[in-house]
Amino acid sequence: MKMASFKEIISTLPKRKGWKDSNNDLFLYQGFWCSSFFIEGVMSAQQNFQSQPSDIVICTAPKTGTTWLKSLTLAIVTRTTFDDSTSPLLTNLSHDCVPFLEVDLAQSFTNRDPKNPLLATHVPYSSLPKSIIDFSCKIVYICRNPKDAFVSLYHFIARRLVFKDMKPLALEEAFELYCQGVSSYGPYWDHVLGFWKASLDRPDKILFLKYKEMMEDTVVYVKKLADFIGYPFSSEEIKKGLVEKIVSMCSFENLSNLEVNKSGKHHERTPGVIENKIYFRKGKVGDWENYLTPEMAARLDSIES
Ligand code: A3P
Repeated sequence: MKMASFKEIISTLPKRKGWKDSNNDLFLYQGFWCSSFFIEGVMSAQQNFQSQPSDIVICTAPKTGTTWLKSLTLAIVTRTTFDDSTSPLLTNLSHDCVPFLEVDLAQSFTNRDPKNPLLATHVPYSSLPKSIIDFSCKIVYICRNPKDAFVSLYHFIARRLVFKDMKPLALEEAFELYCQGVSSYGPYWDHVLGFWKASLDRPDKILFLKYKEMMEDTVVYVKKLADFIGYPFSSEEIKKGLVEKIVSMCSFENLSNLEVNKSGKHHERTPGVIENKIYFRKGKVGDWENYLTPEMAARLDSIES
């Protein structure tokens, strides 16, 4: 099916206003909300993408730790080629090293760098291309407390819109939509539960990580991640402190202070300019307390899928 027919299908889908003040409808496709740009990429991936057994697919809902998990995974798989003074992460945003399935690869799935087994996606588990689910490639998922994920998403959208001379909705209005499940790739709870249930059914295929736990004990989880994706650290590497070096290179403090992430621009694949710095805000657990009232927090906590 051609892109034109994707557009036709999308025009028939249920539609809601998104989080910006104009030009930003979200459409309900296979149970999740998304802008037409991303849905076209998802449809194309579902139709054409063929995964390889060596693929490692980083799956996330937006603003739950994608930039970090991409960085850690890339540092793990490239550690015999690069070290913490030559890593591509020192001069590139991780999103420019690990392609997004429905954005970067959507037009040319066959054009992948054969040396890079990593790719990423925000697509919910039940809508992943069949070959990712059926074949033996690995999936790594990270989830985050919905209150922090909401606050992070709200700020991300607001910071992006500044460059387009547009405004986001008021936080309270965006919160209402989020609670109703109307957010990019939402409902958030369905996204998390889809991968959680699949990880219980297929623990050898899907590693389910949590942002808070990873922040508390990154070294342990980086070892676990390396084991799971088939790049375990040798005892000699562990003795030499390689795990700690990767953790420190990929820390929020280090990455957010690199010139590329302070002043660089993300390759423009989605519509509009994206400054690298908007992928780095605070990187804290519990920042929601500065933005949500106790009532709002209680409401989010009470939502079930
Ligand atoms: P905050 O907005 O709460 O600061 P994503 O990468 O999925 O877009 O998620 C972005 C969130 O991850 C932002 O959260 C961002 O600051 C945080 N983040 C980015 N890099 C990080 C890192 N290296 N370690 C921990 N958190 C990071």
